[in-house]
Amino acid sequence: MAALQSVYQDMQAFFKPLWPGEDKPLVLGEGNSDQPILMLIGEAPGETEVIKRRPFVGKAGKNLDEFLQLAGLKREEIFVSNVVKIRPVEMGPTGRTRNRAPNKEELSLFIPWLMKEIDAVQPRALVTLGNVPLKALTDHKTTVGDCHGQWLQSQAGVPLFALYHPASIIYRRALAPVYEQDVLALAASLQKGGPLP
Ligand code: URA
Repeated sequence: MAALQSVYQDMQAFFKPLWPGEDKPLVLGEGNSDQPILMLIGEAPGETEVIKRRPFVGKAGKNLDEFLQLAGLKREEIFVSNVVKIRPVEMGPTGRTRNRAPNKEELSLFIPWLMKEIDAVQPRALVTLGNVPLKALTDHKTTVGDCHGQWLQSQAGVPLFALYHPASIIYRRALAPVYEQDVLALAASLQKGGPLP
């Protein structure tokens, strides 16, 4: 707990001067930060997350609740965070701000802090949602299409279970049963005393 607070303090101090004049608040992780059974890692916060300064609320929170229900876990049992802690945005065709994928610069700035965060939380296992956290924590080449539903070794020294990002199911409906099967496989593995089979 103290270790995580110290990482977050250092992180705030590091990022504060980086984007002067731009409003880019950090959305930090939350939940059980004392060796939880799982640390769930998403890509980056969206609009609601920035407004509430909490990861996985709003629409993504609904996805998270579905995951927790399927996996038989409670939100307070696990730790939830994102690779990139600011909301990456771009201007859409109608002139409105919209989410975009994190760029290389953002990833290289935030990945070392993610490693420190994991080290402070000491989860028993990591669950990555989609390609961004999976690549950040492996060799940057592994894709979720190749290894979803499987345990891998992460570069953080903690076993990692790869899942599709629940938002991707909205665009590719065929992934819905695959995602569900993967979450059930994860739950079964944890029940057997996982994380690694
Ligand atoms: N909200 C988050 O906090 N993370 C995601 O990956 C998506 C939405």
